[in-house]
Amino acid sequence: MQQFEAFIARHKPVAPSFHPHYEDALSIMLEAGGKRFRPALLFAVVSAYNELLIDGAYHAAYAIELLHTYSLIHDDLPAMDDADLRRGHETLHKRYDEVTAVLVGDALNTYAFEVLANAPFSDATRIKLIRSLASNGGSGGMVLGQAIDCHFENQPLTLEQIKTLHINKTGKLIAAALEMGAIIAGRNELEKEIYDFGIKVGLLFQIQDDILDVTQSDEEAGKTTNNDEAKNSFVTLLGLEKAMDEANVLASEIQEQLLSFDESLQGTLSPILKSYLHRHRQQ
Ligand code: IPE
Ligand code: IPE
Ligand code: MG
Ligand code: MG
Ligand code: MG
Repeated sequence: MQQFEAFIARHKPVAPSFHPHYEDALSIMLEAGGKRFRPALLFAVVSAYNELLIDGAYHAAYAIELLHTYSLIHDDLPAMDDADLRRGHETLHKRYDEVTAVLVGDALNTYAFEVLANAPFSDATRIKLIRSLASNGGSGGMVLGQAIDCHFENQPLTLEQIKTLHINKTGKLIAAALEMGAIIAGRNELEKEIYDFGIKVGLLFQIQDDILDVTQSDEEAGKTTNNDEAKNSFVTLLGLEKAMDEANVLASEIQEQLLSFDESLQGTLSPILKSYLHRHRQQ
């Protein structure tokens, strides 16, 4: 992961101009870090099959992280979740202004696809990667999830509807990370199975995030917590205890399903998933 951080630093979005802070603002949230969960999943799939492809995989993992970081910057805007803290730093609209946060989000979103278009793969692979990121991160994926999330504030949804919300806003990008790993590794036969597995992992990831919103402080999470009161989160719908139960059931199912993959993939995915499957129990 250190090498991936170095890659990010070498491929920062560059936009020199006489604007006093725009270029700095482009990189602050990227360099602030984050867990890099989606890149780790992509690397796990690629390295299960061909370590030599890892350098190329950095480009794809970076593209996902760019799109994800844009989604966080917009998610924190006053019009959406109105949060002051992200990745241990003041959010961009607090530090600068809303215009900067909106435009930096726009720029990171488009830069993600520039990075993918320049990635060192065959044209066919590049197109598949671009399609996967666009369809899961865009209008029928993450953005749809965010639209439902914000539109239905203070209007309770059913459990099934909340699952749909979580799968779109978070699950699909996590599933795309695994699918993109399979695309890079040339494992066509694995793409669907690993994608479906990723949807489950992503659903768990968002349920855990809902739990951590009420169990962690801003300092522990590095972001504004206790911020979901008006939201359709698993905790607001079910209460903390039942949300924990749902997370435990899902974590066991994921652990079980992991065993259906070949040994090589199990070997690279297990260590990452192990450190995430039970994070909702963090004290
Ligand atoms: C936060 O994502 C938003 C969700 C989709 C739950 P992460 O928890 O992966 O945030 P970072 O990347 O570590 O900051
Ligand atoms: C955001 O979900 C998911 C995104 C697509 C960014 P949340 O609103 O729960 O994420 P946090 O808790 O602010 O990171
Ligand atoms: Mg949100
Ligand atoms: Mg939020
Ligand atoms: Mg949250």
